[in-house]
Amino acid sequence: MVTRNKNFTRLNSGYLFSEIQKRKQPFQKENPDAKLISLDIGDTTEPISEHIINGFKTASVKLGTAEGYLGYGHPQGDPILRQRIADKIYKGFIQPEEVFISDGAKCDIGRLQMLFGPDRTIAIQDPAYPAYLDTTLLMNSNLVYMPCLSENDFFPDLEKTPPCDVILFCSPHNPTATVATKEQLQKLIEFAKANSSIIVFDSAYAAFIRDPQLPKSIYEIEGAREVAIEIGSFSKSVGFTGVRLGWSIVPEELLFEDGTPVKQDWYRLISTFFNGASNIAQMGGISALDDADVNATTFYLENARILKQTLDQKYTTYGGDHSPYLWVHFPNRSSWDSFEEILSQAHIITTPGSGFGPSGEGFIRFSAFGNREKIEEAARRLTKLSL
Ligand code: MLT
Repeated sequence: MVTRNKNFTRLNSGYLFSEIQKRKQPFQKENPDAKLISLDIGDTTEPISEHIINGFKTASVKLGTAEGYLGYGHPQGDPILRQRIADKIYKGFIQPEEVFISDGAKCDIGRLQMLFGPDRTIAIQDPAYPAYLDTTLLMNSNLVYMPCLSENDFFPDLEKTPPCDVILFCSPHNPTATVATKEQLQKLIEFAKANSSIIVFDSAYAAFIRDPQLPKSIYEIEGAREVAIEIGSFSKSVGFTGVRLGWSIVPEELLFEDGTPVKQDWYRLISTFFNGASNIAQMGGISALDDADVNATTFYLENARILKQTLDQKYTTYGGDHSPYLWVHFPNRSSWDSFEEILSQAHIITTPGSGFGPSGEGFIRFSAFGNREKIEEAARRLTKLSL
């Protein structure tokens, strides 16, 4: 018999959002008439804009013609899409040759762990998106938690962070919904330079940022090109959670210790593990980045405002201004207890903060993804919450 990969024993038995689904089942069984509202996983709910749908249609029709048929594309992704990402999202900070199109930020996180290889020291924010933890453990790497608490404005205390090979850093941060300032990112870059670390900057929620003073990309900060990879996504900005389309940026200046460009190895790895994102999805991405205004984030930010208005009345609530998440403090009880109480009193499914890491204990994350009617109903139910 083949021995089991021992790293699986390091993982929780279920992925966070599967565990939530499991925990809601007994309640649903006992309360079959309860109309549950899901404010747990950050999954988009609104239809994709007609403009993008037309992009998909054009791509599909072309695939059915002799002249328009395409097989495998360029391993790095459609050159037009890469050009648009460089021009529209990075506005000249990044060249199209540094853009790699992917099937989403989560998949890139997994592949980047393979790029770095096993037995590394990887620092992650605590709390953090669970895929950072799981992929780190699966690679048998050492985990360093960087506590992000209200006391430190949810930004890690870098003086207490030991040297590490890789820092997985998300801003706007999932789950605390805080956005790192330019000054904070400058400190992170200095830390990475001093410790010869690579930062993987996850900007999946950048399209929610409304304050022009807040950085949407780490490359807005001087020195980032020598120390940072960035991953981005179309999932939340234009509703592609099911379509699957994202990207990574690996600047030319980023080198491994022996002088090998990181970009060279990333290209090599992508060519082996991945045959590129769907060409139909990429055409949708091209349409999303032309001149039509297709950003879906304004709708979800209004949802966040509605929920925040209610939750603010009774609880200490963070986020919602530049993020689709609210990070709400429910002191004196565990996150899972609060989850159960909110489920039984308000019939709302949330995400317990401790599921994102030990520093999430005592918090609940509310997602503002949902259609307006359900969000308004959730807000009404939350006014009666007694916790
Ligand atoms: C979440 O935290 O809800 C995630 O963003 C879902 C995902 O994108 O994988």
